[in-house]
Parts: sequence; structure tokens; C-alpha cells
Amino acid sequence: MTVLAGADAAAIARAAATLREGGLVAFPTETVYGLGADATNAWAVARIYDAKGRPSFNPLIAHIADIESARREALLPEAALRLAEAFWPGPLTIVAPVAPGGSVCELARAGLPSVALRIPDHPVAQALIAALGRPIAAPSANRSGHVSPVTAAHVAEDLSGRVEMILDGGRTTAGLESTIVSFCEATPILLRPGAISREAIEKVLGEKLAAPARAEVLAPGMTASHYAPDARLRLEAHELEPGEGALDFGGRLTALAPPGATVLDLSPVGDLVEAAANLFAYLREFDARGVRSVAVAHIPERGLGEAINDRLRRASAPRLD
Ligand code: TXA
Ligand code: MG
Repeated sequence: MTVLAGADAAAIARAAATLREGGLVAFPTETVYGLGADATNAWAVARIYDAKGRPSFNPLIAHIADIESARREALLPEAALRLAEAFWPGPLTIVAPVAPGGSVCELARAGLPSVALRIPDHPVAQALIAALGRPIAAPSANRSGHVSPVTAAHVAEDLSGRVEMILDGGRTTAGLESTIVSFCEATPILLRPGAISREAIEKVLGEKLAAPARAEVLAPGMTASHYAPDARLRLEAHELEPGEGALDFGGRLTALAPPGATVLDLSPVGDLVEAAANLFAYLREFDARGVRSVAVAHIPERGLGEAINDRLRRASAPRLD
């Protein structure tokens, strides 16, 4: 049975006890809701993959309390520490070689000699990590291949009956997953664009982020139809075809939509941060309203536009099912 609780002190204490016993707790972060387990307990971590219905054991992000914990878990080069100082707590995930004695279990790392770490900027997530006293492994709290959840209700839709507890901390603010940067090679690599822009990270690093050499590292984020709603998406649309809904940006398609068409504007004023925060909720909204195909307006490829376009391309990729 899944307990849906508010995020008061009593609920957080109960959630930490649930994690300590190997249970699963979905919790809010500033990006999306996470599906959490004790990162040091492989059995608990295995339940994450099961609950998500993931086709394979992909490496998970370990959510930690502070930079000292990060240094216990990973060998962080100076450049990684600079990023950590600049962006933690916040939507940055750092991948680095595992430190000797690191506590994140191998299953959470999918057998890799590296570990993904982040300090979330959300009071509920921070309180839960502090109460557990260990890293919390957490992918986004959705069924595999589905849109990432930004409210407790989205989590319940996907995972009710599959997790012990859902902590409701309201709607998340960033609405887009963390940016992932790897420090496992000679130069830092952008593994996944996300809520912090490439430009902001390169500014702190004083160098350009490289692209991943092999796509395989990044499953599931790199697999074709990840983040997919049921509706079919047609990108870079300049008009609506008969029967289509529209996912708009800056009011481009709204003006052209026939009466009765479902039009959701990610940001009527053309703000990419607002658009990122609305993205997943709007994709779900088309499904909820039974819209089968959606024309998507052009989104500029700058700032958070890179991550938004990345998600939209995956959501529109041909599906196997
Ligand atoms: O904002 C976020 O990052 C959210 C919240 C809950 O923190 N979490 C999230 O987790 O998006 P998930 O599991 O959906 O995505 C984690 C990504 C995956 O693409 C995974 O392959 C990559 O991180 N990753 C984790 N460990 C890695 C490693 N050692 N090397 C390369 N990639 C890794
Ligand atoms: Mg995910």
C-alpha cells in the first residue's frame, strides 16, 4: 500500500524509517520527484528498477547532504569542486570515479567504477537525506519511458501500489532534470543537458564541455523514445493540422489555432525557464485531455532550450510499441 503524506516532520521521520528498512519513498526535489531508496542497500535499489519497470539496470543519481559526503563517495577533481561550490545545492549532477570506501552500492552504479552525485535544493529532500544519514539513490519517480513527474499526483498515477510512501511537497520549481557533467575523462563532458544551462557551467569551468564519446553510457536518457507521452508530437510546426493540439512557445501557434483546439503555451512571454518548468506537466495534460497528436512550436536552442529540445526530440522519436 502506498501512503501519500504531506511533508511535515513526522512524515519525514516515517519516510526515513521506511528507507532504512529497505522501502521506497518518492520525494520532491527542485527538478522532478525522485523515487528514492537507501543507496547503500542493493536490495532496496533493485526495488527501484522493479517499481519503474526499467528494462535494464541503469546507473542512478545518489542524493547527498553536503560536499563532505561527496568527497567521501567520489574522487572529485578541482574543476568538479568548483562546479559543486557554484551550483550545489542545485540541479547539477557530477559523475566522478568512486572513492575507496564509497558507500553507494554497485547496483546503484550499474557496476560502473563511477558514481553520480547531487545535493538537491529542496527542503524536503534535504531533510530526508539528513534523517536517513546516508545517500539516497533516486531516478525520476515515473514508470520507465514515461514523462518525469513534477507533482505528487503524477507520481501516484505512475507508482501507486509500487512504493511505500509518497511525500507531497507541491509542484517542483525547475520542472526539468539536473544537468549531468562527468569528470571521468581528461576534459569535463556534458552527459545530459538539464536545468542548469551549458553556458552557466562553462563560465564557471572556464572551458567548453565536451560531448559524450559513446551514446551507450547514458541509457535511459539517451534511448530514442524516452520521456514519451501517449500523444504523437510533430516538432518545429508552423501551423496546426486538422485534429491536432498545439504545444506553443511565445504564442506562435496560439494565434493560428482553430476554435476548440487544445493549445498549451509553455511560455506565452517566450521565457525558456518558465517553458522548462511547464514542459512535463503539459505533455501529460495532452494525454489527460485525450489529444492524440500535437504540433510543437519552434523552441530556441539557447540556454534551457537545449534541454527542452532534447526532451522533445526523445518524446517525438519513433516508438517500438
Ligand atoms: O533531476 C534529476 O536529476 C532527477 C532528480 C530525482 O534528482 N533524477 C534523475 O535521475 O533524473 P534518472 O535516473 O532519471 O537519470 C539519471 C541519469 C541517467 O541518464 C543515468 O544514466 C545517468 O544519470 N548516470 C548515473 N550514474 C552515471 C554514471 N556513473 N555514469 C554515467 N551516467 C550516469
Ligand atoms: Mg528519468
